[in-house]
Amino acid sequence: MSERFWEMVREAAQDEADAVGFYRRMAEIAPCRAIAHSIEDIARDEMHHLNYFESLLCSRQERGRNPRDRRKRDTAHGRPLTIPTVPDPYPPIRVEGPNPEYARLLLDDYAGIVSEMTAINQYLFHHFDMPEELADVAHMLEEVAIVEMHHLEMLAELIKLLGQPPMYMDGQGLFWNATYVPYLPGCPCEQLESDIRAEQIAIETYRRHIELINDRYIREILARIIMDEELHLRLFNEAYEKYCSGGRHR
Ligand SMILES: [Fe+2]
Ligand SMILES: [Fe+2]
Repeated sequence: MSERFWEMVREAAQDEADAVGFYRRMAEIAPCRAIAHSIEDIARDEMHHLNYFESLLCSRQERGRNPRDRRKRDTAHGRPLTIPTVPDPYPPIRVEGPNPEYARLLLDDYAGIVSEMTAINQYLFHHFDMPEELADVAHMLEEVAIVEMHHLEMLAELIKLLGQPPMYMDGQGLFWNATYVPYLPGCPCEQLESDIRAEQIAIETYRRHIELINDRYIREILARIIMDEELHLRLFNEAYEKYCSGGRHR
């Protein structure tokens, strides 16, 4: 495609971004809520157009780019964790070959209802919501969320290698949404119970996926993720025993 076309795509993206800002400012000073809602809808449409033009520009850059060398990390996102962690290193991220069926299975683990994406948001919300006297639990939840981010990243890389873009959707193509999070505000013990259940389901699902995925590299990675989830399950159970078993926080 010609250079002129790409210039126009860039112009279109800028125009859409300006329009989004314009409509948002307009909605803020609308004379009533009904008009504000309609203008916000228009802004959302413009946002979709903006996303489309930006994804075009992005796909053009992707084609010219060499595969990145991944840094080896012993810590999640370069930050040493203070919670106990599994000492075994993560296996290298690779696959035997592209496979859309395996990508669909991993998309469920990535951004389905019970998934790494949900776990990150669930534990972070529970971290934000923990009462001050449970500061150690709040801190643990934040660090566990960081480990889940690393799982999310590894799954994203696997899904890409299997031939799918790692968008925040499950294997059926349903986009992840914030209603998947069991918020339970003000109920730390119920939050911990739901965190325990999330880890139990994650372990079961990863085990099932290891049976269904006949790719030795992916199996090794999922088995290593399970080790982390088993440790999280233990940490959550310990926190529950410490604060909830005697009924103190119920
Ligand atoms: Fe995880
Ligand atoms: Fe976990």
